[in-house]
Amino acid sequence: MNDKELVAHQALQYVSENMIVGLGTGSTANFFIDALAKRNKEEKLNVRAVSSSVVSMIKAKEAGLPLLSIDQIKEIDLYIDGADEITPDLTLLKGRGYDLVREKLLARAARKFIVIADESKIVKNIGDNFPVPSEVHPFAWELVKNVLMKKGTGDIRINAAKDGYAITSCGNFVLDFNFAEKSSENLNNLLSLTPGIVEHGIFYNLAHGALISHNGNVREIWRS
Ligand code: A5P
Repeated sequence: MNDKELVAHQALQYVSENMIVGLGTGSTANFFIDALAKRNKEEKLNVRAVSSSVVSMIKAKEAGLPLLSIDQIKEIDLYIDGADEITPDLTLLKGRGYDLVREKLLARAARKFIVIADESKIVKNIGDNFPVPSEVHPFAWELVKNVLMKKGTGDIRINAAKDGYAITSCGNFVLDFNFAEKSSENLNNLLSLTPGIVEHGIFYNLAHGALISHNGNVREIWRS
C-alpha cells in the first residue's frame, strides 16, 4: 500500500453509519472513494456520498456508492479530500482540478473536513509549490487579471489539449497566479474581495484536521 492509499484507508475511521460523506478529487481521494464504497457495501453502513467534481462523481458511481447531488444537501457529516499544498496551520491550496466551487462548498458545509495527503504536500507558505488558482467569470477575466497583476504574476489557464482556455464545470475560466505576499490570510482576503472571482484555491480556516503519511506512517494535525 503506498502512502496515498494508506492515508485514505486511515480516513475510514471517521466514517460511521448513515453519514452523508463528501468525496474529494484527485488520486488520494480516489483511494478513499474505493475504500469507502467497499466498506459501505460490506458493513451495510447506509452511507450516501456527494462528489466535489464530475470526475469524482463518475468514480463514485463506478464504485457503487449511492450519490446525492449538491443541491440536495444542507450540510454534510464529513468531507475527505486531498490538497495541493498544506501549511502547518491547515490552510490548504486546492484547485489543480477544475471544480473549485464544489470543493469549497463541501468544505464549508462539512461538520468535519479532513484533508488527506502524503508529506510532499506540506509547505511553509501557500504558493510555495504551485500558483494560486482563481475561478473567474469568463467576461471578467481580463479585468481580474489586471487587478491581480498588481500583486503578482500569472495568466489564464490553458486546457489540456492546449487549444483553448480551461473551462470549469461551472463554465468559468481559471487564472493561475504567483504572489509575493506570503500571508495566507491576506491572500485569502485579496481574492475573496476581488469582484469577478467566483472562487479561489485558498482554503483558509476550513479544514478541521489533516492525516499526513510518510514512509508508511500517518501523523495527524488538528486545528485547535
Ligand atoms: C483538486 O482540485 C485538488 O484540490 C486535489 O485535491 C489535489 O490536486 C490533490 O490531488 P492528489 O491527491 O492527486 O495529489
